[in-house]
Amino acid sequence: MKLWGGRFGTAGGRAAERFTASIGFDWRLYREDIEGSQAHVRMLAIQGIITREESDLMVAGLEEIRQDIERCQVEWRREDEDIHMNIERMLLAKVGPVAGKMHTARSRNDQVALDLRLFLRRRIDELATGVAHVQSALLAQAGDHIHTIMPGYTHLQVGQPVSLAHHLLAYFDMLERDQERLADCRRRTDVSPLGACALGGTSFPIDPEEVAAQLDFKGVFSNSIDAVSDRDFVVEFLASGSLVMVHLSRLAEELVLWSSQEFGFVELDEAWTGGSSIMPQKKNPDSLELVRGKTGRVIGHLTGMLTVLKGLPLAYNSDLQEDKEALFAACDTLEECLSAMAQIIATTIFCTERMARAAEKGYSTATELADFLVGQGLTFRDAHAMVGSLVALAESSGRSLDQLEKEELWGVSPLLGEECRRLLSVQAAVKQKRSRGGTGPTQVTQALAQAQLRLEQRVRST
Ligand code: ARG
Repeated sequence: MKLWGGRFGTAGGRAAERFTASIGFDWRLYREDIEGSQAHVRMLAIQGIITREESDLMVAGLEEIRQDIERCQVEWRREDEDIHMNIERMLLAKVGPVAGKMHTARSRNDQVALDLRLFLRRRIDELATGVAHVQSALLAQAGDHIHTIMPGYTHLQVGQPVSLAHHLLAYFDMLERDQERLADCRRRTDVSPLGACALGGTSFPIDPEEVAAQLDFKGVFSNSIDAVSDRDFVVEFLASGSLVMVHLSRLAEELVLWSSQEFGFVELDEAWTGGSSIMPQKKNPDSLELVRGKTGRVIGHLTGMLTVLKGLPLAYNSDLQEDKEALFAACDTLEECLSAMAQIIATTIFCTERMARAAEKGYSTATELADFLVGQGLTFRDAHAMVGSLVALAESSGRSLDQLEKEELWGVSPLLGEECRRLLSVQAAVKQKRSRGGTGPTQVTQALAQAQLRLEQRVRST
C-alpha cells in the first residue's frame, strides 16, 4: 500500500508506476532530504507539535538511514515513487509508527523544493571552485606568455599582433563574469521554502525561520504559493551554466583550430587527445571537441526547463518533477568539462615561434603605419587610404610591408621615411599599444597582477 494510498481502491498498475516514479534519479537528493527532515522534526519539537523524544528518535533514525545509504545497504523501491517516500518508508521500518509524524505540517511540494535548493547551493560552490581552477590555469599560462606574440584576429583574418597573455586573459574575464552570475544565482537559491506545505501554509504553529536557520539558509520564502512552484533558481543556474559552457566551448574551439597543422600554434598533451582507428598519424583533439559538443546539452537543459515552466498554472504540478534530471545532468556536465579544461590548459604547449611568424603575416602592422601618419598630421581616413594602397602594392608583388623599397614608401607619402620602418615589426606594434586594457606589455602585466589578486580574494572568501 502507498503511504498516500488511503483514498485509492486498487493498487496502481506497474506501468503507471514506472512512468511516474522519480526514485531512479532523485535518490541523489538523499543527503539533502535527510538534512531537511531532521531540521523539520527538530523544529516541530521546539514548537511543541511533537515531543522532544519523538524528534530525537526520528533524527537518529534518519542518521542511520544516511549511513545505510552511503554503505549501499538500502534498496530503493519504485513503489515508493521518490526519495521522500522511500526515506519515510525506511524510517517507518527503523523507528516504527512515530515515523508517521515526520510529515506533519509539511508536503512533498515544499520538501522537494527544499532538497533541490540545498543540492544546488552545494553544487554552485563546487562549480565556482571548478571555474576558479580554469582561471588559475589561464593565469599560469598567461604569466609565461606576456611577451609571446600571436596574431589577433577579427573575422578570423589577421588583424593586429597581440600578446598571448592578453588573449588568455580575455577568457579569465569571461569566467570572472561567470563567477559573478553563479554567486548571484546562489543568493536566490539560498532561500528556504519549507513551511509553505502543499501551497497555502498550515494551521500548525510552525517556525520556518528556525528550519531555515538550522539549514543555514540566508532567506525564507514570503509567499507559500510561489515557494512551491518557483523554479526560477534552476533556470538561472542553467542560464549561468550555459554561459560557462559557451565560454569553455569558445576556448575549446580555438584550441582545436590552433592544434591543426594549418595553425600549429599549440601542442596538446597526448593524454587529452585521441588516435584514429584507420589513420595512424592522427592525434585528434577529442577532449576539446567533447567540451564543445557537451555545451549543447546544458543549453538544451536550459531550453527544456523554460519550456516545462512556461505554461504551468500555480502551484505545484508534476511537470516540476522534470527539473531534476536537467539540473543534475547540467551540474555533472559542467563539473567534468571544467575539470578537463583546467587540465588541458595547464598541459598545453604554445608554439611561440610559429605564433610570432603567423603574426607577421596578413599585414598585421598596417594600423600602426596609419597611426604613424596621423601622428604626422594626416587625418585617419587619408592615412588609412595611403596604407591601403601600400598593402595592395605589397600584396600584388607577394611581399610584406617591410619588404617595400623606400622609394615605394615615399611614392605614397614623403612622410614615410626610414623611421616608420621600425613600426613594421610585430614586437614594436605590440609595445606601442599603451591604452588601458590593451595588449601592450605594461598593460598586460598590470591586468595579470589584478587578475591574480581577484582570484586569490575569491579563493580566500570561499
Ligand atoms: N517526486 C516529486 C518531484 O520530484 C516530489 C513532489 C511530489 N508532490 C506531489 N504532490 N506529487 O517533484
